[in-house]
Amino acid sequence: MSTPTYSAADCKEVLFSEQQIDEIITRLAREIEDTYKGSKNRLVMVITLKGALPFASALMKKINIPIQYECVKVSSYGSGTKSSGEVKLHLDLQISDPENTDLLIIEDIIDSGNTLSFLTAYLKSRRPASVRVCTLLDKPSRREVDFTPDFNGAQIPDKFVVGFGLDFDENYRALPFIGVLKEEIYS
Ligand code: IMP
Ligand code: MG
Repeated sequence: MSTPTYSAADCKEVLFSEQQIDEIITRLAREIEDTYKGSKNRLVMVITLKGALPFASALMKKINIPIQYECVKVSSYGSGTKSSGEVKLHLDLQISDPENTDLLIIEDIIDSGNTLSFLTAYLKSRRPASVRVCTLLDKPSRREVDFTPDFNGAQIPDKFVVGFGLDFDENYRALPFIGVLKEEIYS
């Protein structure tokens, strides 16, 4: 087993370079603008901490319509690479009355689908005008519950990825690219 350096050297493959991530985000921003530009509601990004932070930050700067943001924290993962299936809300929306509000959940990656099934159901129960989901990455082959995002950056195979917000035990989030972690780091 090799010793982790928590750097790019722990990745065996770059899946998306900084430039490729930028291109994906530019396309998503246009799709989001097209969807919401006629809406009379206020648009609020609901950023899922911590993984979606770099993605949301880059995305909001490219969306040329008025936008607000809120942060929520949900977790389905303990440490390691396997979902526990149990989802908990640790930080709630700070909006008391989401009427006349379009909520756009920003997620880093969809895996089993448990986190977003839970979060969309919860946010819909608060009765906003709409709830949609934008994810940077999607691993459809890993679904345990049926879930389809409204905006999808890229579909990826069943590989554990890190960087651009994505972590393994809180490390690698600050890498500017998205890479596949070497198996020996987590096995
Ligand atoms: P789900 O509830 O199984 O869909 O889990 C989604 C969450 O699992 C994401 O928000 C990530 O925090 C985490 N996750 C899933 N796959 C990966 C991965 O390949 N790398 C890092 N985190 C992941
Ligand atoms: Mg995570």
